[in-house]
Amino acid sequence: MRLDRFLSNLPRFSRKDVRLALLASRVKVDGLIVKNPLHEVREFNEVRLDDETLQSGKPARYFMLHKPTGCVSATTDPQHATVLDLLHEPEKHDLHIAGRLDFNTSGLMLITNDGQWSRRLTQPTTRLLKVYNVETEQEIGQHYVKKFAEGFYFAFEDLTTLPAELIILDPHHARLSIMEGRYHQVKRMFGFFNNKVVGLHRESMGPLVLDSALQPGHYRALTAEEIRLI
Ligand code: URA
Repeated sequence: MRLDRFLSNLPRFSRKDVRLALLASRVKVDGLIVKNPLHEVREFNEVRLDDETLQSGKPARYFMLHKPTGCVSATTDPQHATVLDLLHEPEKHDLHIAGRLDFNTSGLMLITNDGQWSRRLTQPTTRLLKVYNVETEQEIGQHYVKKFAEGFYFAFEDLTTLPAELIILDPHHARLSIMEGRYHQVKRMFGFFNNKVVGLHRESMGPLVLDSALQPGHYRALTAEEIRLI
């Protein structure tokens, strides 16, 4: 929310009071004087007027989880364990998943309470590269590579997938880089060849790579540098 709107939402502030307070350098956001009425204020920012705290600012939280197979990418599920069950953190209801994985897919999962950050990570226009290790039931043919680069027509969404890079590692394993995150995308791409995906693991999302020290089911907070990368 804009700083001027944030301030004028407080009962005792008229718009004129807000303008004058800003001009008089009386407002600080995260310890710094802000005079710009358009300055963006989020629930994570501390806002002070003179010596009074108007908003204390809650901590923004970012975690990297090594999702194991056999758990659901949801915050609640009546039947199965969810990825949030693996987190030992307070106020879990405040957290959400940035980029879901299927029940039997493992690998990098990012969890946060920062909606703007997770939108930057997942929105299609960002075209962030997601890298998967894929294991298939049938052999992967060399002719797959061209088709992945050309794209697959998905009738349900009426779209053709963006160019994807398929690197064949051995007859049943490949590394796949895709820019989108459509529903069951990888399985549907291999489904074009009637080749069932029997193992799927996400290695990275853009610059964020699953920490090799994390065992399945384990997680850690992102570093300041990792948060900044998105
Ligand atoms: N594509 C899939 O088919 N499943 C996933 O979990 C992720 C990408």
